[in-house]
Amino acid sequence: MEGLCYGGDYNPEQWPEEVWREDVALMREARVNLVTVGVFAWSRLEPREGVYTFDWLDRVLDLLAENGIRVNLATPTASPPPWFSLAHPDALTVTADGVRLTHGSRDTYCVSAPAYQEAAKRIAAALADRYGEHPALAMWHVHNEYGTWCHCDHVAAAFRIWLTARYGTLDALNEAWTTAFWSQYYSDWAQIMPPRKTQYLPNPAQTLDFRRFLSDEMLARYRDQRDILRPTGVPITTNFVFGAWVPVDHWRWSAEVDLVAIDDYPSGNAAEESAFAADLARSWARERPWILMEQAAGVQYTGRRMRAKDPGEMARHTMQHIARGARGAMFFQWRASRGGAEQWHHGMVPHAGPASRTFHEISALGRTLAELPPHTPAIDTEIAILWDYDSWWALQAPGLPSTEIDYLDSVRQTHRALWRNGTVPDFTHPSHDISRYRTIFAPNLYVITDAGAANLTAFVAQGGTLIVSYLTGITDEHTRVRLGGHPGALRDLLGLTIDEFRPLDAPLTLSTGQTATRWSESLHLTGAQAVATYPDGTPAITRHAHGAGTAWYVSTHLTDDGYADLLTMIGLPAPADPPGVERIVHRDGTTYTINHTTTTLGPGLSPGGFIVHPGPVKAETGQEW
Ligand code: GLA
Repeated sequence: MEGLCYGGDYNPEQWPEEVWREDVALMREARVNLVTVGVFAWSRLEPREGVYTFDWLDRVLDLLAENGIRVNLATPTASPPPWFSLAHPDALTVTADGVRLTHGSRDTYCVSAPAYQEAAKRIAAALADRYGEHPALAMWHVHNEYGTWCHCDHVAAAFRIWLTARYGTLDALNEAWTTAFWSQYYSDWAQIMPPRKTQYLPNPAQTLDFRRFLSDEMLARYRDQRDILRPTGVPITTNFVFGAWVPVDHWRWSAEVDLVAIDDYPSGNAAEESAFAADLARSWARERPWILMEQAAGVQYTGRRMRAKDPGEMARHTMQHIARGARGAMFFQWRASRGGAEQWHHGMVPHAGPASRTFHEISALGRTLAELPPHTPAIDTEIAILWDYDSWWALQAPGLPSTEIDYLDSVRQTHRALWRNGTVPDFTHPSHDISRYRTIFAPNLYVITDAGAANLTAFVAQGGTLIVSYLTGITDEHTRVRLGGHPGALRDLLGLTIDEFRPLDAPLTLSTGQTATRWSESLHLTGAQAVATYPDGTPAITRHAHGAGTAWYVSTHLTDDGYADLLTMIGLPAPADPPGVERIVHRDGTTYTINHTTTTLGPGLSPGGFIVHPGPVKAETGQEW
């Protein structure tokens, strides 16, 4: 497709056909050029096993094609029909405490169940057959938000196969999982279970491996469908959902999709969270295209209640994604549903219909995106944050030294501080080539392999600046503590050793005036210099020259103000723009300036507005929205 994609999930199966005609007229008005069709339409496409009713979808796709609207056609496998569940009860999800769920919502299937795998491949093949050459087809949207957990016997069998491939022998597995503790030694593969509900604390290595397995197992199911759709020659993706509960390693998955697609529903400070989500997506895509596949029109879901977005807010946050490289912005969903579980989820056309502020803003945003200067949105940055699923997942285990350890919160804080500083960081991983960066942050990188630690050490030796925060480099990939003083993997690089963790009951003030919260440690310096000390005079923040570079260590959780001071300490330049102004410069010189404040900031930058300058910045050539 030329230009940016704009549209949303379109569910015509929920509406009579006369509404479809109004839909396409309104889509044209709003400059919608791509809609995601059929995500949850399995029971309407295959009302009985092997009986297909494609006639309505034929009419929908033809109507969209006649109106120049392209289709991102979904396989409906995230919501099997009731007939399927009744025919194959063994394919229903089993929770960790052994409850087999019943159909009646969505995502109630087991990806390891043979019947589900076969049914999913059949419906994907039927869609590829029928629509592979349809002129409206622009993209395939496999499934929806992979992330469903199951603990049934099919999963147990698949987990054992995965473990056999990973460890080869039971001895290796027993060693990796430290099964000598609490008499968990396995003498037969058949004894190994998914981490079902158990008496007390589960084995952390088993739990972490189970998440890795779920990620690989779901990825294999994505590949099943992708390979069926591949002969159609149309780009294929699946929409990534983000959250602590999601057992998906997006680094691994991103390599398997033709473009990265994310769903983004900020629940707190939407400006900061949108930038975070977009930087992650761009980093996962690694120079390949990515798209914002879903966001909410008109309202923000804050966890407790929905909040109407302020005038212009929807456009501003969308523009953050576009500025950070998205090839389009889509919504869930086109028309708000009358009934059903998500009847109160907003739509681009809300319940009030097109005579509404939301639709007016949706149309204005469509025009804006259509008028943006075409360009290739590559962003070069010298600063990166390490993002690691093993550490995120391992730090969700019970039995850690403090319940206040929160990996995502720490990574978000690092990103937030950089965002407020006017910096656009990439995310990267210790297993990647990190040599192009000058500064890398490693917040709470608890799990690290020997190769990952060597990569970080070489990065510093070659002149990089590494900022390591507490609970980094503590365990190997099996969550076994690296012995001899923490952080075992990075002691030499940091020039220190930790002999005790000292989680805090109350905040402390460091010698630098920064506030330390949640966590502290007893450090012994073996080469590093103290830059900040605790009230008892022991080191809190340190710096160590290593080769041509510098490794910093922050042994506590700083407040946001303290983190801002840390950026100054490490020598990051102060922000060039006033607070609340976001400026993103692309490799080709195109510059986006977004004003998140309620005041006019500089020539032409109205409250809540944004300016795009094509090519190298020339103030007089920018167009303001
Ligand atoms: C997700 C799903 C959509 C919808 C929205 C809103 O992103 O993909 O189907 O449920 O959330 O809740």
